[in-house]
Amino acid sequence: MLKGIDLIFGLNLQNPMIATSILEISAKAYRQNIKYIRSEIGPEPVISAVVKGNAYGHGISQIVEIAEKAGVRHFSTFSSDEALEVFQHSKKGSQIMILGMLYLEELEELIRKGISFYVFDFERLEAAIAVSKAIQIPAKMHIEVETGFHRTGFDWKFRERLALKLIENSSFITLEGLCTHYAGAESVSNFVRVKKQIASYHEFKDFFLGHGLAFNKFHTACSAATLIFPETIMDMVRIGIAGYGFWPTKETYFAKLQDLPKNNKNPLRRLITWKSTVMSLKDVKMGEFVGYGNSYMALTDIKMAIYQLVTVMDLAVS
Ligand SMILES: Cc1ncc(COP(=O)(O)O)c(C=O)c1O
Repeated sequence: MLKGIDLIFGLNLQNPMIATSILEISAKAYRQNIKYIRSEIGPEPVISAVVKGNAYGHGISQIVEIAEKAGVRHFSTFSSDEALEVFQHSKKGSQIMILGMLYLEELEELIRKGISFYVFDFERLEAAIAVSKAIQIPAKMHIEVETGFHRTGFDWKFRERLALKLIENSSFITLEGLCTHYAGAESVSNFVRVKKQIASYHEFKDFFLGHGLAFNKFHTACSAATLIFPETIMDMVRIGIAGYGFWPTKETYFAKLQDLPKNNKNPLRRLITWKSTVMSLKDVKMGEFVGYGNSYMALTDIKMAIYQLVTVMDLAVS
């Protein structure tokens, strides 16, 4: 019994020979997904690989390595700790952008490392300006505007105050981006709402440009927006789910289906394969039940393989 516990938490995690399950992450599948996204967006826009949530569960360090080999040099994280993990594993020159959480005390380190971050309220804006002034390094900011997602982003009513702050402090700010996020771009039923959000983003953009503010990149599109609303592509797309081989929804897949190559219907490939070791084989007769709570009934005579579900995992990159 103790031995079993040791197997899960102990030494053997280091030993793939003893792991009973292996998660394989396919670099080839990732390249294919990026190739497909590239074919959709054309040669110019930057692809930012969204590696939030430990790269949607695939592992930040593994995905950063795979993505860089596939030519991706821009990464989006949720938080500063993820950004620092990307920083540690990425090549010099790769860009890192924090979409969400950071502590103001971390600003100095992030600015010194050249990590860019979303700015969606005056507290973060003012804190970043103060740090930039103190260390004489401009902060790389993405100004996020609220267009209908209602998560983060400056409201329209703050545009004058915001523009003034950005102009007054222009020597301490690198305006890396003007951005927003669409609510429900993955569902056709939100068509009108997304179109309204796009229009609202353009109002912000025109307003800031009218005030002489220049941004390095305009970026708004996640996977679904990239695939379904091509006008949202602009200078950069932030690709999460599609990079990992999933369509954002069935609707997005069906919407694209007719444009896809005939003999190769689905261009997106899953990255993960779970391989496990069969522990035992058993014959089960038709009508017999299997498992806790009799959760499965054999509809015919079957041969069943039993493998270990809660297990030691080894992560392999192929
Ligand atoms: C701001 C932002 N952009 C892009 C993405 C990527 O979205 P998707 O996985 O649908 O491509 C996310 C994901 O959560 C996000 O929060």
